[in-house]
Amino acid sequence: MLTVDKTDGTFLYEQVVHLIAGQVENGALRPGDRLPSLRGLSRRLDISVPTVRQAYLELERQGRIEARPKSGYFVQASRQNRLVRGARVSGKPSTVKRQALIDRVYDHIHQTGLLPLGIANPGMAHPATRTLHRAMKRVMARTESRLLGYAPAYGDPGLCRQIAYRYLNQGGSVDPAEVLITNGGQEALTLALQSVARSGDVIAVESPAYYGGLELIESLGMLALEIDTCPVNGVSLSALSKALEEHDIRACLFSAAVSNPLGCVSSDEGRRNLVQLLESRDVPLIEDDVYGDLVFSGERPRPAQFYAQRGQVLTVGSFSKTVAPGYRIGWLLPGRHLGRARKLKRAISCSSGLLQQLTLREFINSGDYDRHLNRLRPKLQHNAERMIACIEQYFPAETAISRPCGGSVLWLELPGGVDSEVLFDRAIDIGISITPGRIFSPADRYRNYMRLSFGHPWSEAIESGLEALGRLVRELAVSGRTPAPVPARHGQNLNPRVS
Ligand SMILES: Cc1ncc(COP(=O)(O)O)c(C=O)c1O
Repeated sequence: MLTVDKTDGTFLYEQVVHLIAGQVENGALRPGDRLPSLRGLSRRLDISVPTVRQAYLELERQGRIEARPKSGYFVQASRQNRLVRGARVSGKPSTVKRQALIDRVYDHIHQTGLLPLGIANPGMAHPATRTLHRAMKRVMARTESRLLGYAPAYGDPGLCRQIAYRYLNQGGSVDPAEVLITNGGQEALTLALQSVARSGDVIAVESPAYYGGLELIESLGMLALEIDTCPVNGVSLSALSKALEEHDIRACLFSAAVSNPLGCVSSDEGRRNLVQLLESRDVPLIEDDVYGDLVFSGERPRPAQFYAQRGQVLTVGSFSKTVAPGYRIGWLLPGRHLGRARKLKRAISCSSGLLQQLTLREFINSGDYDRHLNRLRPKLQHNAERMIACIEQYFPAETAISRPCGGSVLWLELPGGVDSEVLFDRAIDIGISITPGRIFSPADRYRNYMRLSFGHPWSEAIESGLEALGRLVRELAVSGRTPAPVPARHGQNLNPRVS
């Protein structure tokens, strides 16, 4: 019998989305099948027509179904639009135990001679080498004698001003004195987590989550709790709200704009609601915004910071993804945790590289940073489209692909029998590095998922690498084939063809 659970705390339309997505995934609904009418489904589920409409619109946005004028809604016929599934996670907080796998991935991340589809380095799609070198030369000529000294502990004031000014362009007001320059986004994440939580505390994370954040949680002895995350809209607020009821969550660590690995961008409205929800419980939000400048089109998403009223949002930024990860320059807006974050910064690393800070300041000042971004974004979008086309050509038809709105990675769901750790080893043998899915989950999910990076100048080597990878996936899909289990939640049948 078809049902939704009105007491479950999840939005009803989300339940309908999962219900139908599950039917499509377990094959009860096939490409081209007609969905029940809005009125019909509202009667069967005893919910309102607008709720069903909202669910259908969401499914349409996710590319799972299509509206045909005067005919109704149909399951997407083309695999062009097959999207990775959102996770339904009902886990408990757990220690992160991903170190061994992360070690293995890191062993190969910088290995020369490998096709580097495992490393997320978007700036390489259009390197700013020449303009950046010129900026550095100008700085060296001007400030030679100062350059061997320490930078101010909290950052070069000129760079802090530039960063604050850029927020002004996005419609938010940031005091330069509240910008803390760090050694990359990773140090900013460390300072943020240590400012608001301690060993044993529970940190809510997306599912899948950036593995560098998970490794950090692990190294600080904290526990991670995965929250349902939609591949299109980001973290589910109803799932988060439920988790806040059930667990003593000390802080949340979520992507602000473009997430890694899903590539999705939550709406401004979604971010506002997220901040409101967390502020109502005085739970700090650490927003990882290192990809925010790399949305492919439209306005740059406004950081959640702008919606904060109580100083409980800590924003992490970085120049690694846009310009130069080797410079190791990022920043933190610590909100009301500024004092603690500053102390930690002093204790952990004293200050950050002066030459790199002054070079970036010069790079931004000259207008080169914006010109660079204007060239980089379309390159990345073009690469994403080409990589998706290659995967559709070379990978098994059941492969589902994310539709990133920015950044430099694709998230793939492979046919059930494929273990992406085995694929990782086999791919290294043929000279390709990838990132296996399990690394993105503390609770051992995503065994048959992987992340691929398109942050490189497009080349024939990438195309033939994808072809070879597709062959490997096909081989593993055949050798590991087992009957697909039907998830209990998706066991309800919407298709009149199958009783
Ligand atoms: C989502 C996310 N946050 C933070 C970082 C760390 O950035 P940085 O290289 O500036 O330390 C990365 C790097 O891969 C990332 O992908």
